[in-house]
Amino acid sequence: MNSKKVYIETYGCQMNLADSEVVASLLQDDGYEFTNSLEDADIALVNTCSIRDHAEQRVIGRLGEFRRRKSDNPDMVIGVLGCMAERLRSKLIDQLKLVDIVVGPDEYRKLSGLISAAFEGEKGIAVKLSRVENYDDIIPLRTEGVSAWVSVMRGCDKFCTFCVVPYTRGRERSRTLHNVVREVEQLVEHGFREVTLLGQNVNSYRDGDFDFADLLMSTARIDSNLRVRFTTSHPQDMSYKLINAIGEYENICSYIHLPVQSGSDRILTLMNRTYTIEHYLRLVDKIKSTVPGVGLSTDIIAGFPTERGEDHRATLDILEKVRFDGAFMFKYSPRENTKAWNMGDDVPDDIKSRRLNEIIDLQRTISLEINKGMIGQTYRVLVEGTSKKSDSYFMGRTDTNKTVIFPEGDFKVGDYITVKIYDANSATLFGHVVTKAGWVDVRIAVVA
Ligand code: SAH
Ligand code: SF4
Ligand code: F3S
Repeated sequence: MNSKKVYIETYGCQMNLADSEVVASLLQDDGYEFTNSLEDADIALVNTCSIRDHAEQRVIGRLGEFRRRKSDNPDMVIGVLGCMAERLRSKLIDQLKLVDIVVGPDEYRKLSGLISAAFEGEKGIAVKLSRVENYDDIIPLRTEGVSAWVSVMRGCDKFCTFCVVPYTRGRERSRTLHNVVREVEQLVEHGFREVTLLGQNVNSYRDGDFDFADLLMSTARIDSNLRVRFTTSHPQDMSYKLINAIGEYENICSYIHLPVQSGSDRILTLMNRTYTIEHYLRLVDKIKSTVPGVGLSTDIIAGFPTERGEDHRATLDILEKVRFDGAFMFKYSPRENTKAWNMGDDVPDDIKSRRLNEIIDLQRTISLEINKGMIGQTYRVLVEGTSKKSDSYFMGRTDTNKTVIFPEGDFKVGDYITVKIYDANSATLFGHVVTKAGWVDVRIAVVA
């Protein structure tokens, strides 16, 4: 038994959160214990993101804090995991002298061995990408809760020209439907009420004849009181079968994150997004008519190479046309070795900022209008925890992924309640608890 304590800090997307739970599971099997405080740690790991330069700079800044800890405790082992490990490799060890081990997303099975070697003074690096590793046999180590992330596929083959993910995560590969379903069944037994099926492009999920819609429906059939969410969908691969499944199953949440990136076909072509705005809008029409009241969100990049005023206006135009409930909006950040890197970064930073602010302002106005329109209505909410601001308030989400804040009452975390909305801002709804909601019966559809 080895009683060394591991501290793990996670940056980036939900895939990274899910990976940290895989890492924790692997280390627990080898006898490691965990701590929530860097001060107590014998091993400090940071699971990193490379998506934009800013994401990497945050981690570099944070490693400065790790360095101070290490000067108090020189035996502490410091490891960098995830996408930065994969992208920067030995540079992390050479340039940041404090890093002992560097492990990419497909090599976590080697981590424990590398940690042991690091305690003997050996620096270690494992960054090979795999075509098969999907940790299908590992049950992630989760803290008890209401919601769980479940990775169903890894990697990405889309090669959008701005994006590092195909390089940091490697080729697409899926877990088996059987193992995903078994994992979710266990989560239900442990009291989880919501799962989010994860992949960079879940629509590419494949297990033999089963596609993502089949996986989603199989997961939804496990328990009608389990909410099933998923992310992320690529507009090119989103099938009508999937949209119909969302419409048909009460417990598949009526919420879709569908990144559009830009409103300009010319820019979409340069981004290698492989769809047009016409295709995107047709998809949105189909979604809105099949899933009434659906929540939609998106991702936008401002200032992609060669973007002109008219392209930017086309992006504002698509926001007005679709009226997304919310959006994640970013300034373009050039990433070395991607195709767009060679297109230059010709939109000056002040113009990027101005365009981004216009996009944010417009989206905020739209979100506020939509949310104000919900005042006076009642919604079924899953109670997820106390509110960040006050322990006498709780938070939960609607089926359509809106955050709702409401006062404490005759319910507990994990219950479904009905809440009447009395106020809203662009990000949050505020409500009164009307009643505890009854259970639902899911309509069972037959999967071909
Ligand atoms: N797989 C998801 C998104 C993954 S990354 C998808 O395809 O939609 C999340 C978001 O980060 C992207 O949708 C994109 O909007 C943004 N992003 C990715 N690379 C970026 C870059 N180089 N600069 C700015 N934003 C970027
Ligand atoms: Fe990146 Fe595009 Fe893959 Fe999303 S689909 S992870 S943006 S390459
Ligand atoms: Fe970041 Fe890697 Fe996720 S680059 S967004 S942590 S896949």
